[in-house]
Amino acid sequence: ANASSKPPLTIRLCEPRGFCAGVDRAIQIVVLALKKYGAPVYVRHEIVHNKYVVEGLKAMGAVFIEELHEIPAEHIDSPVVFSAHGVPKSVPRDAQARNLLYLDATCPLVSKVHKQAIRHHRLGRHVLLVGHAGHPEVIGTMGQLEDGAVTLIETEEDVANLKREEGQELGFVSQTTLSVDDTEAILKALMTRFPDVHAPAAESICYATTNRQDAVKEAAPGVDMFLIVGAPNSSNSMRLVEVATRFGAKDSMLVQGAADIDWSKVEGIATLGLSAGASAPEILVDEIINGFRDRFDVTLDLAITAKETENFPVMRALRDVELTRQ
Ligand code: F3S
Repeated sequence: ANASSKPPLTIRLCEPRGFCAGVDRAIQIVVLALKKYGAPVYVRHEIVHNKYVVEGLKAMGAVFIEELHEIPAEHIDSPVVFSAHGVPKSVPRDAQARNLLYLDATCPLVSKVHKQAIRHHRLGRHVLLVGHAGHPEVIGTMGQLEDGAVTLIETEEDVANLKREEGQELGFVSQTTLSVDDTEAILKALMTRFPDVHAPAAESICYATTNRQDAVKEAAPGVDMFLIVGAPNSSNSMRLVEVATRFGAKDSMLVQGAADIDWSKVEGIATLGLSAGASAPEILVDEIINGFRDRFDVTLDLAITAKETENFPVMRALRDVELTRQ
């Protein structure tokens, strides 16, 4: 069919979208470790929440495990990488006890939140962590301090139900990948109920989360469908789907790639919003755009809200490898 026989479609493509500096660094760490030490390189937990990335690294010789004891005795000399989401203190301690060579790919912005939680604690405050139960980042942040030192706050109701001991001071931090607006509501409830609660010395929600949500807010009003490329266990991607709906997309959904798209559902649409979570590679976005080009006469309309220049260097131990790359 020639282009003119296809129905017109405007794709509002968000920028920034996709990989953030923390994800980029974590992937580089695995790739460089494979170059320096050879396969296998063990990776504790999905390095970033994206199947495509994980499969790609597996093909290069990375082996994904959930816990350190899964590393077989004959590979005890192979390095193990900790994921971008961060780990409880017990994990590096355990690695040391096992004499493992570990490379910590925790995003520096997650480490910053860890430091803020530790700081609250050192100043005698009970720590409140605004986040989602079970997410590895939340497990990692809670695990910076002993059991009971941190209380997880998921909702405004959790704020209402919070009990504080006589004379106990409170300090909060948040997961880096939450919805900026939801967090604001929870923090408002927190400050209304406990006006003396201490804020962290630095913002917890990261630049990449804020920027990706801002671009979706810009692109969402009135679009017939909004697609977010990402994984269901990717917190920041799920938040983008919510933001799209809240800011006026008529429909929005998460897709892992072009193969996930139910083309019957997008028949007849005139505008499409498109973005990708911080762990989703650009090639998946390209595939989706190409899928639409096959079926529509596509016009791209960029929703640009920020230019990102952040770059997080890998640890010194891998920098020499980087220099000799290619
Ligand atoms: Fe780091 Fe934010 Fe990405 S915390 S891993 S820069 S989403």
